[in-house]
Amino acid sequence: MTNPKAFVRAHTQPLPVPSLPDLHLYQAAEVTSLWQMTEAELAQNGLAPPFWAFPWAGGQALSLWLRQHPETVAGKRVFDLACGSGLVGIVAAKLDAAQVTANDIDPFAAAAVALNAALNGVSIAYNGEDRLSGEPPAVDVILAGDICYERTMTEAMLTFLRKARAQGVAVYVGDPHRSYFPAEGLARLATFDIHTDTQIEDRAVKPASVWSLI
Ligand SMILES: C[S@@+](CC[C@H](N)C(=O)[O-])C[C@H]1O[C@@H](n2cnc3c(N)ncnc32)[C@H](O)[C@@H]1O
Repeated sequence: MTNPKAFVRAHTQPLPVPSLPDLHLYQAAEVTSLWQMTEAELAQNGLAPPFWAFPWAGGQALSLWLRQHPETVAGKRVFDLACGSGLVGIVAAKLDAAQVTANDIDPFAAAAVALNAALNGVSIAYNGEDRLSGEPPAVDVILAGDICYERTMTEAMLTFLRKARAQGVAVYVGDPHRSYFPAEGLARLATFDIHTDTQIEDRAVKPASVWSLI
């Protein structure tokens, strides 16, 4: 396989995050061709889309909310679950989190997070394991942007997050009203109109809410 950072650099370009334009991420201009190239690169078919190549609406909403409430992460140990590009973790690092770990199972997310963190002048740790069936990490806060787009994934994510919450970890989820989002046991904190990309969403502006696990 090509060096993953070289692959990300070759097939994306630094572009402003639509709803947080002072931040830039390596983003795909054309999702279908990147998806095909990713499958060719890994010699696998039927892969998940290159989630790491876009800032998703849920992650953008959570990022905007964190900027309004920096005390949520300042001085705290933060875990960005299902980080994709790393946007949410990057925002937490910029808001003076004591430590940020970004986590994702996509093999290209590690490269995307490292490149995106450098692009935005921060450094964050990365963990590429599937943590959902294990013990929650030893952190103060878990942030999760846009995790409710598949039924089984949503159930596994929420089970993990509820376990973490029961152990005293603060948990915040950003979600653009996806079908599988379970409002039960969550409190809505804010809603934003998020600018997104019609290659990956049905609308250019999508409402997305930030929730805390009760
Ligand atoms: C829609 S993207 C959201 C990315 C980012 N949080 C954002 O808001 O831009 C969902 C991410 O979940 C990741 N994911 C799926 N299953 C996972 C798991 N078991 N553990 C960690 N990440 C997972 C995918 O690889 C993908 O990057």
